[in-house]
Amino acid sequence: MSLSIKEIRIEYRDKPVGMGEKKPRFSWKLPSEWGDVFQSAYRLRVRGGEVNYDTGKVKSRKSHLIEYKGTPLAPETHYDVFLDVWDNRGNKAHGQTYFETGLLDGFVKETQFIAPATSESLSCSEIFTEITIEKPVVRARAYATALGMYELYVNRQKADDLCFAPYWTDYRHTLEYQTYDIAPLLWEGKNEVCLRLAKGWYRSELNGKRDNYGTESAGLAELHVDFAGGERFVLSTNETWRSRRCFIADSEIYHGETQDFTADLSAEYPVKEIQYDKSRVVAQMSEPCRVTQRIKPVCLIKTPKGEQVLDFGQNLVGVVEFRIQGERGQKVMLRHAEVLDKEGNFYTENLRTARAEDVYILDGTEQTLHSRFTWHGFRYVQIIGAEANVEDFTALVIHSDLTPAGMFTCSDERVNRLAENIRWSQRGNFVDVPTDCPQRDERLGWTGDANVFAPTAAFNYDVALFFRKWLNDLRAGQADDGSIPATVPSLNGSIAAAMWSDSAAMIPWEMYLAYGDTRFLADSFDSICRYADKLQSMCGEGGLIRSGHQFGDWLAPDREECGYTKSGATDMYFIANVFYLRVLEIARDAADILSFTEKRKEFAARRRALLSRIRREYFTVTGRMVCETQTACVLALHFDVAPARFRSKIAHTLRENVERHRGKLATGFIGTPYLCFALADNGMYDLAEKVLMDDTCPGWLYEVKMGATTVWERWNGISMDGELYDPEMNSFNHYAYGSIGSFLFRRVAGIERLAPGYARIRINPHLTAGIEEASAEFECPYGTIRAGYCVRGGVVAITAELPPNTAGEVVLPSGTVHAVGNGKFRFEEKTDADLKPHRFDMDSKVGDVLDDERAFRAAREIAPEIFGGASEMIRPMTFRRAASYGGEEMAVKMREILRYINEAIEKQQ
Ligand code: BGC
Repeated sequence: MSLSIKEIRIEYRDKPVGMGEKKPRFSWKLPSEWGDVFQSAYRLRVRGGEVNYDTGKVKSRKSHLIEYKGTPLAPETHYDVFLDVWDNRGNKAHGQTYFETGLLDGFVKETQFIAPATSESLSCSEIFTEITIEKPVVRARAYATALGMYELYVNRQKADDLCFAPYWTDYRHTLEYQTYDIAPLLWEGKNEVCLRLAKGWYRSELNGKRDNYGTESAGLAELHVDFAGGERFVLSTNETWRSRRCFIADSEIYHGETQDFTADLSAEYPVKEIQYDKSRVVAQMSEPCRVTQRIKPVCLIKTPKGEQVLDFGQNLVGVVEFRIQGERGQKVMLRHAEVLDKEGNFYTENLRTARAEDVYILDGTEQTLHSRFTWHGFRYVQIIGAEANVEDFTALVIHSDLTPAGMFTCSDERVNRLAENIRWSQRGNFVDVPTDCPQRDERLGWTGDANVFAPTAAFNYDVALFFRKWLNDLRAGQADDGSIPATVPSLNGSIAAAMWSDSAAMIPWEMYLAYGDTRFLADSFDSICRYADKLQSMCGEGGLIRSGHQFGDWLAPDREECGYTKSGATDMYFIANVFYLRVLEIARDAADILSFTEKRKEFAARRRALLSRIRREYFTVTGRMVCETQTACVLALHFDVAPARFRSKIAHTLRENVERHRGKLATGFIGTPYLCFALADNGMYDLAEKVLMDDTCPGWLYEVKMGATTVWERWNGISMDGELYDPEMNSFNHYAYGSIGSFLFRRVAGIERLAPGYARIRINPHLTAGIEEASAEFECPYGTIRAGYCVRGGVVAITAELPPNTAGEVVLPSGTVHAVGNGKFRFEEKTDADLKPHRFDMDSKVGDVLDDERAFRAAREIAPEIFGGASEMIRPMTFRRAASYGGEEMAVKMREILRYINEAIEKQQ
């Protein structure tokens, strides 16, 4: 058997061009056709320019993130990478790739940010110049960026398929430039180079304010053209360029874009220099946004109000492209919405002040149009001013173009839809920055939402670079007192609120675990220490946090049971102290990994002291908790805050609470990510599966049942009868509750990491009632992991696949543990587990059946004499018992209700 190498990556990228990393790291994977493959040695060579780097043959199993240690890399240089790998069976393989560095020393002094010099206030404009090419071009690169957004055109052709560049960084610290290969676009003779400028994040309204970073959009570009014979031509943006208006009259992130094809664009203006510190300009750090999918409408709807509305069948993020031949001057407007209201009319109230309207003034020719510097979160599009033909419209799905990493599937289509909804919400909210929502007048990098979702995000897509870039901005925005921006890039001040601000420590830690990349810890360590000190400074009496702003268990339904605030019923300072404890643990462990011995000791001592203070304050001597909400119990168990001797009592309290909520969750942003884990890991998998599979409100499958195609902000965003919740905060594309995704991967399918970066793996699928078959695959730094179970005829089959260079164990449902190397494994054992979807019968409790709104409605219709009014008294009874009060006629009606609900359950499987 021979060995080969797949996927050589340089700083997580495939053949990067314009790379800004001065000490890049190399990673590769070995194919896994056969088992127990371990690398025994590697040799890495890098050649290009003056560099001739050779590691020699290094005896090592390491195949991930091996740092370049040669002489400094030169700017704009092509480097070839040669890799040899030996395995434990004496095989050798060879692989090859390359990378090209960017402007490692920055832009030249002569290159200036330029903007149109006109008294007119231009929302969008073009800056342009001509160059004459007289010799054959060997290589041509453009390095460009803008204060605002831009598109680069060479001879009227767009230089790349990027959308929304340059991306959203804290422009007071950092601005990214993009690198383009423009050789294919140049021709001999005169060439026009043009930057189309728009407002972007730099000037668009964000968080209630326009011009957050500056009042004028400006472009910066440098073209480096190499001719045969070694001659080089450099073109810089400077005062010799000219400018003009653009057919895009206006473009705003929240409000949409207006394109006017009748406008007179002939006037030209000079340009002027705009001051911006060029030392802040760095190479693009993460994946750009692109169109990743094109979707046709599923139908055209005429609403009761007479609106023409296209339904794309999926709540998505991007823009609509359409083909039209209209009259010159004809105005066509596209409005965007996530849902229709109860009556089926177009509904935009939940967008709040975001207009989300694209307007086109046609020139009378046949045109194919879409907006360029804005995007919308929508499923429905209202067309005004033209007849809507389904075949002329296409939705362009746009987001950060990340590499897919994982996929969960199972025998229950509703759960598959949930997994898909989570992926769609990630796509829609990973538009360069992890945002809370993509549609209303917000779209901000809320730290809490990102923190809640990060573990799931890393299962769905490769998010290493995405979060690395975002964490740069988090640190850049950290206040002098150590507090963390509420939204990143920072726009609205800094706070120290549990879960939200803890993303400063928890996300680097999560990324370290997901990718085994200690740079996440090294880069953030100082920031974590400063944040931990900030938390310490907030401690009052008894050394605990007792005051200060907190979001609490955001949007938890348990508070809605008794009051109407958004913070849930859990004691918010209990939450704050538990998360402070978590930050100290991360600081301690990061110090350990980075070999900061003194710091490790300091944080270990601080953690011990805080833990005993929390225990004294929040736990009674008999093991009750001061606050016994689901979230409080979940945190006590999941974060190991409860004294060991109280764990079973607290688990019991949690069980009682969940049962009191009729097997439903009552958690918000804080408790939801950990609820099912806390149940599963404390002997209550029966409840974890009940909560997971419940399709009534609040619950994940309720949304699915209501036709959701993304994850909602609120459990009760739409009521059973189609009523929409208060539009003030009712997004239908919020990924926070999508945090259940990691439970599907880690517990249901059973992919569990035993060492950072998945160097060791446990496969431990959990048989889940209602799911007869489940499986997941996940691309970890070493290759593909697969795991799953299938129950048929009293036998459960467990499948497992571990990639080369890893090892671990497979745990069977009976508890038997098999130590394994890597390769494909299948184990079978007998089981008496019946995972068939639950059916109700005469011995089912009335309350359990009526929890399903469909059953409740059927019951009211079929037997109004019993279920028409309050039915609280009979809820604890079985159907058989309840029927005994009404004779045979009543028993018939009861059976009819049961048949109805069982059929409904059958249909949805
Ligand atoms: C966002 C949330 C966010 C919260 C914090 C909301 O408007 O959409 O998801 O975390 O504000 O206040």
